[in-house]
Amino acid sequence: MKRDSFSSKFGVIAAAAGSAIGLGNIWRFPYIVGKNGGAAFLFVYLICIILIGTVIMISELSLGRKSQSNPFGAFKMLKSSSNWKYAGFLAIATSFIILSFYTIIAGWVFSYFCSSITGKLATIAPENLAPYFQNIASNTPVVLLFNLLIIGITAFIVISGVQDGIEKYSKILMPILFFTLVILIIRSVTLDGSIEGLEFLFKPDFSQLTTKSVLEALGHSFYSLSLGMGIIITYGSYTKNEENLVSLSLKVIAADTIIALMSGIVIFPAVFAYGFEPEIGPPLIFITLPAVFQEMPFGTIFETLFFLLVGIAAITSTISLLEVSVSFLTEEFNLSRKKATLLLSIGLFLLSIPSTLSFGAWSELKVFSLTLFDLFDYVASYIFLPVGGILTCIFVGWVWGTKNAFKEISSNGMYSFKGYNIYNIIIKYLAPIAIFIILLYSTNIIKL
Ligand code: PFF
Repeated sequence: MKRDSFSSKFGVIAAAAGSAIGLGNIWRFPYIVGKNGGAAFLFVYLICIILIGTVIMISELSLGRKSQSNPFGAFKMLKSSSNWKYAGFLAIATSFIILSFYTIIAGWVFSYFCSSITGKLATIAPENLAPYFQNIASNTPVVLLFNLLIIGITAFIVISGVQDGIEKYSKILMPILFFTLVILIIRSVTLDGSIEGLEFLFKPDFSQLTTKSVLEALGHSFYSLSLGMGIIITYGSYTKNEENLVSLSLKVIAADTIIALMSGIVIFPAVFAYGFEPEIGPPLIFITLPAVFQEMPFGTIFETLFFLLVGIAAITSTISLLEVSVSFLTEEFNLSRKKATLLLSIGLFLLSIPSTLSFGAWSELKVFSLTLFDLFDYVASYIFLPVGGILTCIFVGWVWGTKNAFKEISSNGMYSFKGYNIYNIIIKYLAPIAIFIILLYSTNIIKL
């Protein structure tokens, strides 16, 4: 059976950038930049993504392209008769668990999109926006309905295939996302008092820069670039041999960072212009920003555009997260794409129920003093994700071997010996050690 693949250069970039650009870019990145010293932190972040992010991304792409396989199959093929295939399985499991709560948040976003387009959100008094959000999140049937909608849209695109689904929709959605951001930026930076927000984001403050911020930069680069969870391996397997993996990685990383910065330029000037406090995560987009839009002339229009933007960012990420498991089931169990997607969608919906309930009837249920939603997030994002990253580095650096990886990377134009040496040192030593330190830090084994 011929494997489906991406058909055009722009298609690969749109799909991979679509995966990378997600909720993390909008509500996490701008905030951590602002809190950790603005441009000073940005500088550290850029070094992290250029040194470590690029190297891991090209390694994952080359694993996928060489093996022409899903993450489980890739590890299995490149080192047969070993347990390494379970490292691939871990990556698949991580992406599936993350997807099970990512769709819930994406569902909230769609519910906010609906209530902004109908004008309902604009009528809620600012002091009632926090209780409104609580009500939405704890209304299990409604959340599950929106969750089903997101899973349905994601499944529809994934069932349509790599070229006719993922690539086609990424090529349409990513430009829409970009132009929506441009419109919102123009609105935000032309508000009186927007300069304070720009200063929050960009003013270099080296006193805020600590070891902790360096770890935060590295941790975020992993999350933001969708590394360590099989996505990039899977997309690499759909990438043609003519594609230059180094330049592809650099373009995706540049797009991810530029969009994250653009989101910051939309959000913080507006937040500061109307005298609100910067926040991180759900409170920023579901509580603070609706209040900001209420103050803005024609705010409802901009608010609707904003939630459209966040929704698009989320969907192009959910399709990549689902595709990992779909490629696994179709290739390892010979299921049709349609059957695999439907089966996984049902599983996903069921798995998301406990997380949904943790905002409602099960809000008191705690495991290790975490709600089920937080537990899933913690285990997947703070333990499995870095472990997956470390295993990928060890596999490429020591098991499959940097020579083989470099051969695949430079299959369409030899890179220099110097390039190889740098690659070799980073993937064998620097990257796994750095990620291991993040793991120790995020599991509180070391405290800073
Ligand atoms: N990279 C996307 C984002 O930043 O939102 C999607 C994503 C991948 C989110 C992996 C979380 C994650 F752990």
